[in-house]
Amino acid sequence: MSDFDDLDLGRLHELHSAKWSHYGPEVIPAWVAEMDFPVAAPVREAVIAVANRSDFGYPASIEHNGFGDTVAGWADRTCGWKVDPSAVTILPDVVRGLSVGIEILSRPGDGVVIQPPVYPPFFGAIKEKGRAILENPMVFRGGRYEIDFEGLDSAMADARVLILCNPHNPTGRSFARSELEAIAELAIRHDVSVIADEVHSPLTLPGASHNVFAMLGDEVAARTLTVTAASKAWNFGGLKCGFAVSGSPEMTAALKALGHFATGGASIVGIEATEAAFNRGGPWIARVIEYLDANRRLLDELLKLHLPEVVYSVPEATYLGWLDCRALNLKPDPHTFFLKEAGVAFSAGPMFGTQGEGFVRFNFATSGAIVTEIVERMAAAVTRARVG
Ligand SMILES: Cc1ncc(COP(=O)(O)O)c(C=O)c1O
Repeated sequence: MSDFDDLDLGRLHELHSAKWSHYGPEVIPAWVAEMDFPVAAPVREAVIAVANRSDFGYPASIEHNGFGDTVAGWADRTCGWKVDPSAVTILPDVVRGLSVGIEILSRPGDGVVIQPPVYPPFFGAIKEKGRAILENPMVFRGGRYEIDFEGLDSAMADARVLILCNPHNPTGRSFARSELEAIAELAIRHDVSVIADEVHSPLTLPGASHNVFAMLGDEVAARTLTVTAASKAWNFGGLKCGFAVSGSPEMTAALKALGHFATGGASIVGIEATEAAFNRGGPWIARVIEYLDANRRLLDELLKLHLPEVVYSVPEATYLGWLDCRALNLKPDPHTFFLKEAGVAFSAGPMFGTQGEGFVRFNFATSGAIVTEIVERMAAAVTRARVG
């Protein structure tokens, strides 16, 4: 029995996070991408150490706090990725990385390609900067989501930037090296820069392996800004610390030139939690991966048993299930139906693009018992609606 099995809904409902405080105690939230597991001991100890020192001032600059070396050490150990510590820029979070990346790599009015359904702030970050959203939707083929390379070729012909989400939220794809090479070839041919959001990469599950886009060669690296964080995989999104790795000194200089309002905002707690995660959080993440591996299959079994009309392709990475509920014909839409009739809050599919109509995103980073209860609630609600 794992301590991840031992989650209590009453205690979780006492949390102040948006995930747990937005709905009342009658609802099980499975929406915001956070895990319900107790945080890794090294991360908890790092946060307590900051509190014990009353060290809540503004953080030292990256030139003084060694964060670049922390990132370089982690990248090398986990992926063999050789990161120059001076290419690292600290950010408050990954979404800020999308925003500043768009700013330095394109001009207002330029096209930015995304591959929906995709993490909702991809749309917002492009709009906020006055760039044009160019959609190349993922296609569902042979039981999994794939990139439409013909569509990508024509979208990239009109674009300055591609935002690559790998692993991909919400479909759970971890792109194969051959897929990334094909993207890289198009980026070079069309002279497009790539913002590679790899925040879910430490949550790559057995059977898949993460390929760092910037490792596909010098020419690829030079046009890639990687944006990531420890906070997704080690579950401390609210502590505020992400970072960008620039593929060229020009990118680093451009980020620096944006100044504090654009790139500042990380906290000492977030920085030290990140160091703890990267340097001492390996055993914890290994347990999480084992647990999520079991949960992604448990969800598959439960859906096949109770709701066989739902289409779910088991994710290769992340703890997110992208459920196609269209065959259930739920009114007014699956998200509202499950919230009102089952007492379960998913992320509504259309938030991820128009391709998400009729879908919900199921966050299964919780105990197996809670995953089971959620699916049983869904099935009971569907049965009641059919009988009624
Ligand atoms: C692909 C992707 N990028 C970025 C984020 C958010 O990261 P942050 O909270 O660091 O902005 C998420 C959160 O789920 C995500 O799925």
